[in-house]
Amino acid sequence: KSKIVTCTAPVNIAVIKYWGKRNEELILPINSSLSVTLHQDQLKTTTTVATSSSFQEDRIWLNGKEEDITHPRLQSCLREIRRLARKRRNDGDAALDSMGLSHKVHICSVNDFPTAAGLASSAAGFACLVYTLSRVFDVEGELSGIARQGSGSACRSMYGGFVQWIMGQRDDGKDSLAQQVAPETHWPELRVLVLVHRAQSVVPGRMVEMIEAVQRKDFAAFAELTMKDSNQFHATCLDTYPPIFYLSSVSQRVISLVHRYNRHYGETRVAYTFDAGPNAVIYMLQQHVPEFVQAVQHFFPPESNGGQFVKGLPVKHVALSEELRQSIGQEPL
Ligand code: DP6
Repeated sequence: KSKIVTCTAPVNIAVIKYWGKRNEELILPINSSLSVTLHQDQLKTTTTVATSSSFQEDRIWLNGKEEDITHPRLQSCLREIRRLARKRRNDGDAALDSMGLSHKVHICSVNDFPTAAGLASSAAGFACLVYTLSRVFDVEGELSGIARQGSGSACRSMYGGFVQWIMGQRDDGKDSLAQQVAPETHWPELRVLVLVHRAQSVVPGRMVEMIEAVQRKDFAAFAELTMKDSNQFHATCLDTYPPIFYLSSVSQRVISLVHRYNRHYGETRVAYTFDAGPNAVIYMLQQHVPEFVQAVQHFFPPESNGGQFVKGLPVKHVALSEELRQSIGQEPL
C-alpha cells in the first residue's frame, strides 16, 4: 500500500523579527514575532511525500539532492507527526489503521527561489514538510508547534495573511504557537516587493549548468545559457537609472539573425554574447562556420556596418541556400 501527497507552502517575511531562543532544541523564542505570509504565485516550496510498505527507510531530497534524514530538526517533525497519528489511531479512529503508521516516507522538496538567500527558505520548507506529512498521515489540528520545531519562522507560514508567533511561557513549548492576526483579504492594497539580486539568484545555478554543458560538450545548452546570460546582463544595464545602452541597432539585428538561423534548423547552432559594447561575439561549432558567415555577409553586406564582423576570418566559401535566406529574411532583421 502506498500514498503520495504534494503540497505547497509560501514564504513569510517578519515585520517584528524573531531573533534569539530560550530553548534551542524545542526552538522556543525569547520574543513574539509577526510576519506577512506571501502569496504562493512566487517564493514557495513544493513538497511531495510518498509512503509505501516497500520503503526501507525515511529519505529526503532537497532541490534534487539527497540530504541527511537524521538531521535533528527533520527528525523532530517526523517524530511529532507520527506521534499525533498514533494518538489519533489509539483514540479509536480505525480508518487510520490501513495507513500503515510504521511505513517509511520519501520526501522531495523544491524551492522556486534561491535557498540561503535570506528569503526564509527554511520557513516555507518546514511549513510545507509538516503540512504535507500531516496529509499523508491524516493528522489534523494545530500543526504550527510542529513546524516550529523544524525552524522557528516556519510556524508562521502555516497561516496566510498577518500571522503572529506567540512566544509562550511554558518550558515544554506547548503554548509557543502561530496564530492568524488578520487574513490576507484584510488589507489587499498592501504590496511586498522582493528584490532578488542576479548575483545571488541566477548566476550560481547557471555556473553549475554551464560547467556541465562544457563537460558534456553540449553545444545547445552552452549556447542557450550564453545568450540568456548576455541578455540578462544587458537587461540589468537597462534597468539602472539612467540606463546604459551597450547594444546598438546592429547588435539587435545580429540577435534576430541568430535566433532566426537557429529556428530555421530547429536547434541551437549559434550563440551570441555581448560585453560592454555593441560588438557581437558568436560561438558555434566548426562545421557551421562557413554557412553562418555567408548569412552574416548576406544580411550585413560589407558596405554596411556588419562587414567588419567577419573580417579576417579564414572562411571557406559556401553558397547560402535560398531556403535559409528566405527563412531568415522574411521580415527585416
Ligand atoms: C531573521 O527561523 O531561520 O528571519 O529557528 O533557527 O530555524 P531557526 O531560525 P529561523 O530564523 C529566522 C529569523 C529571521 C526573522 C524572522 O523571520 O522572524
